[in-house]
Amino acid sequence: MSNSIESLLKESRVFPPDEEFSAHAHIRSLEQYRALYEKSIHEPEAFWGEIASSLHWFAEPRRVLEEDPPRARWFVGGTTNISYNCLDRHLPTLRRNKAAILWEGEGGDTRVLTYQQLHRETCRFANVLRKLGVRAGDRVAIYMGMVPEIAVAMLACARIGAVHTVIFGGFAAEAVRDRVNDSKASLIVTCDGAVRRGQLVPLKAVVDKAIVDCPTVRHTVVFKRTGERVDMEPGRDHYWHEVIEAVGASAPPLPVDSEHPLFILYTSGTTGKPKGVVHTTGGYMVGTYVTSKYVFDLHENDTYFCTADVGWITGHSYIVYGPLSNGATVVMYEGAPNFPDPGRLWQICERWGVTIFYTAPTAIRAFMRWGEQWPMKADLSSLRLLGSVGEPINPEAWMWYQRVIGNARCPVVDTWWQTETGAIMISPLPGATPTKPGSATLPFFGIEAEVVRRDGSRCAPNEGGFLVIRRPWPSMMRTIYGDDERFQRQYFNEIANVYFTGDGARRDEDGYIWLMGRVDDVVNVSGHRLGTAEIESALVSHRAVAEAAVVGRPDEIKGQSLVCFVTLRPGNVASKALKTQLAEHVAQEIGRFARPDAIRFADALPKTRSGKIMRRLLKDIAAGGDTKGDVTTLEDLSVLATLRQSDDD
Ligand code: WTA
Repeated sequence: MSNSIESLLKESRVFPPDEEFSAHAHIRSLEQYRALYEKSIHEPEAFWGEIASSLHWFAEPRRVLEEDPPRARWFVGGTTNISYNCLDRHLPTLRRNKAAILWEGEGGDTRVLTYQQLHRETCRFANVLRKLGVRAGDRVAIYMGMVPEIAVAMLACARIGAVHTVIFGGFAAEAVRDRVNDSKASLIVTCDGAVRRGQLVPLKAVVDKAIVDCPTVRHTVVFKRTGERVDMEPGRDHYWHEVIEAVGASAPPLPVDSEHPLFILYTSGTTGKPKGVVHTTGGYMVGTYVTSKYVFDLHENDTYFCTADVGWITGHSYIVYGPLSNGATVVMYEGAPNFPDPGRLWQICERWGVTIFYTAPTAIRAFMRWGEQWPMKADLSSLRLLGSVGEPINPEAWMWYQRVIGNARCPVVDTWWQTETGAIMISPLPGATPTKPGSATLPFFGIEAEVVRRDGSRCAPNEGGFLVIRRPWPSMMRTIYGDDERFQRQYFNEIANVYFTGDGARRDEDGYIWLMGRVDDVVNVSGHRLGTAEIESALVSHRAVAEAAVVGRPDEIKGQSLVCFVTLRPGNVASKALKTQLAEHVAQEIGRFARPDAIRFADALPKTRSGKIMRRLLKDIAAGGDTKGDVTTLEDLSVLATLRQSDDD
C-alpha cells in the first residue's frame, strides 16, 4: 500500500470542467456544489426532504431523519413504491413511449422496451409472483443472465413488497444454495441458460443442483433464453412465458413503509460467510435517484450505458433503480465485452448513440491492452460523459480513458462507493468539479467523508489512513440479514462513532480523496469483490488441503489477482496436477470468476504465537517483494524463507 501512496503523489494534472459542458449541467460550478454541499451537511432534513419530494409518496414522510446511532431511519412514516417511481410515475408524461431499456444480446439480436411496455411486463410478472404465493416481505431469489426480464423480476418484487436477492449468474451451485438458504427464499427466478462468449451457460441446471438442499424454495420460474433442454419438475418449475399468459396486466403497486426492505445483496467480507446487505425502500430510492441525476448529469435525451452485471450492486443502483427512477434510457448488453471481437462495446455505443458510459478500471485496462484500434473503428462522437467504478483507477488508465474513449472532451467521473452504501458517495460532479486522474475527488451531497487514524483522529493532508463516514445517509445499508450483531461490529465498532468503509485513503491539500484499496481481507479481482476467507474455506473443503491462506497481489489488468498458500494433509503430494485440481475446486465451489491465479504449496504458514495467520507477510511474498514491518510476533521465522522459495505457477 505504501507504494501506491508514493506513485499517486506524483500525479499533479488537473482537468477543469469543460465550459460548454458546465453551461448545460445540473450543477454548473464548484461554488454551486459547495453551497449545496454545505446546506446538505448543516440542514440535512431540509436538503433530503426537498429531493425526496421529487418522487412519489403515497403517504408523505412525517420526518426526514430519525437517528438512533448507529441506526438511522429515513423518510419516517412515508409510504412509497420504487416500482411506481421507476415506471408508473412516467406514464402520464412524454416518457410513456420513451425507451426504458435498449437491449442487445451477445449474438446481435436486439429488443426495445418502452416505459409502457416495461410497466406492463412488470405488472404481469408481479401477478405471477402473487399467484405463486409470494407475499410482501417474502424473499425471492433471482439467478439470471443479462436479459431485460432480470429488471422486470426485480421491479415486480418491489411492486408487491417482496424482497429480492439477485445472485450473480457466475456463481456455482454451492454459492447459490448458501445465498438462497441464508435469505430463506421461497421462489427462484432463473433462465434456462445464459449466453457468454458464444457458449451456453446452464443456469437452470445449476438451480436444480442447488435446490436439492434448499428447503424453503417452493417454486421456480424459468425464462426461456437459450432454448436448451432443461428439466422441469411439474408443480414446482414453471416457464415464464406460460405463467405470464395466465395472469392479467393490472397490478396496483403496494404502498410500503419507507423502511420496508427492498433487497438483500450478498457481498464478501472478512469471514467465510457472505454478508446479506439489506437495503430498504425510501432512502435507497432517493439516494440512487439523486446520484444518477447529478453524477451522470442525466438529461431527458441521454442514452446511458453501464457495463456492470445486474447481479452486483452497480447493476442494481445504476442499471435499474437510479436511471429508471429518473426516466432515463438504459442500454443493457448481455454478453462479453470482447465478443466477437474487442470492438464490441464501441459498436454498441455507436449503434445506440450512447452518451454516458460507465465501466470499471479492470475493463479499461483490458481495453488498453486490446489496443486503440478498436475504439478508433467506431464513431464515439455521441459520448459526453465517462464514469468509472469498482476499484482505484490508476492515473494511466484514467488518462487513456479520457483521451482515447472520451476524445479528450468528455469529463471522467471516478465514483467511489460500496454495496453497503447503496449509492455513489465520493465523485466529481462533471459540470462542477475539476478532476485529477486517479482521485475520486469530493464527497457527494450529504456525505461527510473523512480520513482518520485508528484512534479516530483526523489525518493530516496526504497522510494515509482509514476512510470513514461521519453521518448517516439515506441509501446506507440497514443491517446484515439475520446478523445484526455483525453489522454493528464490522461497520461501527472498528472506529468509534463512524461508519468504517474498510478502505484506505488520503486526502490531499485541496480536500480531494485518493482511494488506496482495502485494508481488510477483501480482494477486488476484475471488479468482483471476494473475501479471502471464502476462498480459504473452499480450499480447505478439498480433501487434500490442511490449511490455506489467500491474499491479493497487484495485477496489471485485474487490479488484484488471487494467490493461495496451501499446506497439505499428510499423504498428499504437491504437484502441478494438484494445483490445477484445487483451482478447479474453487471454481466449482464459488464460480469461475473466483478461480485462483496462483497456488503455492508450503510446509507451514507464517503464524503469530496465538495462531493467527500473518496475511500481511504473505501479501509481501505474493507480490514478490521482501517482507516488511514487524515480524517479532511470528512464531517461526524460518517459515518465511521457505515460503519465498515456493514456486508460483
Ligand atoms: C472499491 C462496488 C477506488 C472499494 C460499487 C470499495 C473503489 C469496494 C471505487 C466496494 C473507486 C469501488 N475507487 N475503489 N471509484 N469504487 N471501490 O461492494 O474498495 O462491489 O470498498 O461495490 O470497491 O465494492 P462493491
